[in-house]
Amino acid sequence: MRTALVVPAAGRGDRLGASRPKALVPLAGEPLLVHALRRAAASDVVDVVVVVAPAGACDEVRSLLQPVVPDVLVVPGGAERQDSVRAGLRALPADVDVVLVHDAARCLTPPDVFALVVAAVRAGAAGVVPVLPVADTVKRVAGQTVLETLDRSELVAVQTPQGFSADVLRTVHEAAVPGSAVTDDAGMLEALGHGVRTVPGHERAFKVTRPIDLLLAQALLSPEAP
Ligand code: C5P
Repeated sequence: MRTALVVPAAGRGDRLGASRPKALVPLAGEPLLVHALRRAAASDVVDVVVVVAPAGACDEVRSLLQPVVPDVLVVPGGAERQDSVRAGLRALPADVDVVLVHDAARCLTPPDVFALVVAAVRAGAAGVVPVLPVADTVKRVAGQTVLETLDRSELVAVQTPQGFSADVLRTVHEAAVPGSAVTDDAGMLEALGHGVRTVPGHERAFKVTRPIDLLLAQALLSPEAP
């Protein structure tokens, strides 16, 4: 029985304002995707890696990643993140029993987080998400009108890698309605009534989305970083 890592890396990264797909944007001289995979590989809990790349960039991504993960599989992605993850799942060998799904954009996620998530799935959870408490007060709005203030003590921010029983994840992805508003894989399990557990996330597992996130990631790679 083996653990696979599926990395959706086919997004355009419009919010980052870069001219390249986000996963290929350089950070300290190397693409975000290389940083992400080096940390995943260092966890020693991943046996198979599938990277879902922008359709025109599969060859480029394969040669970039071979020094880090020599037998990486690279497949083309789809229009939405959900389509890209499904393409990655279809490329997995049949003997994989645990799947991690990890955003390339969470490129500084420490190896320990991968190990923690895999351990929780192997302990019996169908789905596992790393989470952090929410720092801001969160309100539900309609346009510019506040509808309610949510109880912050009940809220968490969800990161990746998210971990799953391979059978359950394959089933929910094949059953998913194209274009639905679900923004993560665990949400697809929840929608079908499967239990999802949490483990502690990590502040370095933030998603590089806007230019300010790239500055933070650069600062964290400097020798003086905390
Ligand atoms: O857009 P967002 O930041 O939510 O994307 C999260 C991850 O999903 C990124 O690593 C991105 O490359 C990936 N993605 C993808 N295919 C898409 C859209 C996003 O693989 N069509």
